[in-house]
Amino acid sequence: MKVQPVRGTHDIYGQDLLKYKRLEAIVNKYANIYDFSEIITPIIESTDLFKKPLGEQSDVVLKEMYTFNDRNNSLLTLRPEYTTPMIRAAISNNLLEKIPQKLFGIGPMFRRERPQKGRYRQFNQINFEILGINDIAADVDIILLADDLLKNFFPDKKIDLQINSLGDQNTLKIFKENLSLYFQKYTNDLSEESQNKIHTNPLRILDSKNIKDIKINKSAPKIFDYFSEEASDRFDNFKKLLSDTNISYEINPRLVRGLDYYCHTVFEFKTNDLGSQDTLIGGGRYDGLAKILGGPDIPGVGWAGGVERIIMLMKDINKNENKIHLILLHPSFKSYGFQLLNQLRKNNIAVYFDYKYDLKKSLSKANKLNSEFAIIIGEEEVEKNQYTIKYLHKNIQEVLSLEQIIKKLK
Ligand code: HAM
Repeated sequence: MKVQPVRGTHDIYGQDLLKYKRLEAIVNKYANIYDFSEIITPIIESTDLFKKPLGEQSDVVLKEMYTFNDRNNSLLTLRPEYTTPMIRAAISNNLLEKIPQKLFGIGPMFRRERPQKGRYRQFNQINFEILGINDIAADVDIILLADDLLKNFFPDKKIDLQINSLGDQNTLKIFKENLSLYFQKYTNDLSEESQNKIHTNPLRILDSKNIKDIKINKSAPKIFDYFSEEASDRFDNFKKLLSDTNISYEINPRLVRGLDYYCHTVFEFKTNDLGSQDTLIGGGRYDGLAKILGGPDIPGVGWAGGVERIIMLMKDINKNENKIHLILLHPSFKSYGFQLLNQLRKNNIAVYFDYKYDLKKSLSKANKLNSEFAIIIGEEEVEKNQYTIKYLHKNIQEVLSLEQIIKKLK
């Protein structure tokens, strides 16, 4: 059997790479327009960085982290997400002395999930965070950015924004207790996976895709009933500002997100075109996180988008295949050929040379690629210090000097 990449990982090349590069260019452009600065953090971090913030009982920490003992016995983890490392980096480098701190990054994340379409063990994320701002304007602004990016990637696609609020830490604590009590009444009717979460992570039962759970979820307590007045006002103001900025959304009371650090605003951009892994972008507010990581007690809001999922939906990109083919009729013309190659490349003209010295095969390849020009070098060309250029679409040719050929091809 051929050598294969590790399960759940993949090579990016060809069309996917063109799409990746376009995505990167658009992300950089919008980061600039929205005034975010890029930060690149290490792929390995100390395991402790993730455990508490993501939740000791979250799926990511319990089952999905790639963790290993370093030679000095310190525990290291391949980052499963970008928010915690970004805040760690902001603290380590004193970036939080200036607030707001608006950071973004693109790069690989690692989660040992069951691989399927749109779900990988190594995948790439685009990540945007606004650190230090409590105002709902930051929540709306970062959603506007996501909306702008998605509209740029997919002008014709319908992508839905779902929102919810998890209230403040106290709301969430009381809600979780009541949710747990409710699910205890249905212990035997829930899916096995959800049964294991009744006491440890009842929130995640709410977004289960299992039919048994969905039925029980219908009558589960709603977080809105546990909101403090402040949390309730905050959610109302957030919704109003979203509407005022012409962003359409749907409220999904069962949207809880998979990581523990969230409070208040949570949101996801979803599509119907991807099967079960249908979330393109997910994020929310995480006000206690910087403090948990040993930094100042500042709020934050952000999101991450799955690069592979976005690429999967992008249309193919037309690569400019209009190549200029250099055809040498014999290996002895190599040095003459390289003189021309060097000059063309110095003038930023791309040339295709297949190292084959076979007129018929090279012309057939040029035709296949629908190329416009072939430059042919044979005995006569070398002797007379000239070049034959063939216009493949017109089936005519002429003989030119080096200066003439560069002028023509430029
Ligand atoms: P998340 O929902 O775990 O959030 O991931 C965000 C996005 O990354 C998902 O919506 C999906 O597009 C993509 N993604 C996640 N797991 C995989 C996977 N195994 N394979 C392919 N794509 C995947 C976070 O990571 C938070 N840090 C988001 C955030 C930023 N919240 C606040 N700031």
